[in-house]
Amino acid sequence: MSKRLTSEQDAFGHAVWDHYHGTNAFEIIERSDGHFAISSGPSAYLAEPAFWVPHEREALERHAHGRVLDIGCNAGRHALYLQQKGLDVLGVDVSPLSIAVAKERGLEKAEVLSIDEVSKELGTFDTILMLGNNFGLFANPSKARRLLRRFKTLTSPGATLIVESLNIYNTKDPDASRSTRAPTTSATFSKASTTRCARHTSVTRKSLPTSIPTSRRMPC
Ligand SMILES: C[S@@+](CC[C@H](N)C(=O)[O-])C[C@H]1O[C@@H](n2cnc3c(N)ncnc32)[C@H](O)[C@@H]1O
Repeated sequence: MSKRLTSEQDAFGHAVWDHYHGTNAFEIIERSDGHFAISSGPSAYLAEPAFWVPHEREALERHAHGRVLDIGCNAGRHALYLQQKGLDVLGVDVSPLSIAVAKERGLEKAEVLSIDEVSKELGTFDTILMLGNNFGLFANPSKARRLLRRFKTLTSPGATLIVESLNIYNTKDPDASRSTRAPTTSATFSKASTTRCARHTSVTRKSLPTSIPTSRRMPC
């Protein structure tokens, strides 16, 4: 078993936990190509389905079935959506605070677990979700092959893998990030919905807040 993230390492968790408990929180994106931006990450991870980019709901409606494993579930928005529809869903995330928020929001089955620890001990699944650009959790091609082989051992015949990714080389929008673009659906995805979600704000380093507030009421 890999080591559990310490509170200091749990950046995703702190952001979503703070936001959920009423403190404004940010996600800062710094990419190896020099792109630098503040995204409204936590509010997007807590967004109601009406504010999701359309392809996410469409993917769940059309393809999610049976027992579902949501890998990198964060605050559990997709898992909760399917749970409410009566599906048996397990959400896993490496971030303890994200899992705490997912449970607080009502996700019945949620575990602190890295994608590296996903194994057939969890049982058999008919659907695996890796939305929110979680294709990136595969890290590199050889690890992707290894994990996909492992997924085969914990999925039923005909199981579905719903994975989202972003090709940053295939967009002219420097702020394109997490779940705002799917190459196959970009034609139907309108700019209006990006604005409505207020997901991304381009910033320069100078315009970053000098301090990012955190709540004192952390559970860990
Ligand atoms: C971009 S967010 C997407 C969250 C969620 N799927 C959504 O769309 O709202 C990525 C999530 O993956 C989690 N994560 C990062 N590395 C992980 C790993 N190795 N194993 C499992 N989860 C991981 C993060 O903690 C974070 O919650």
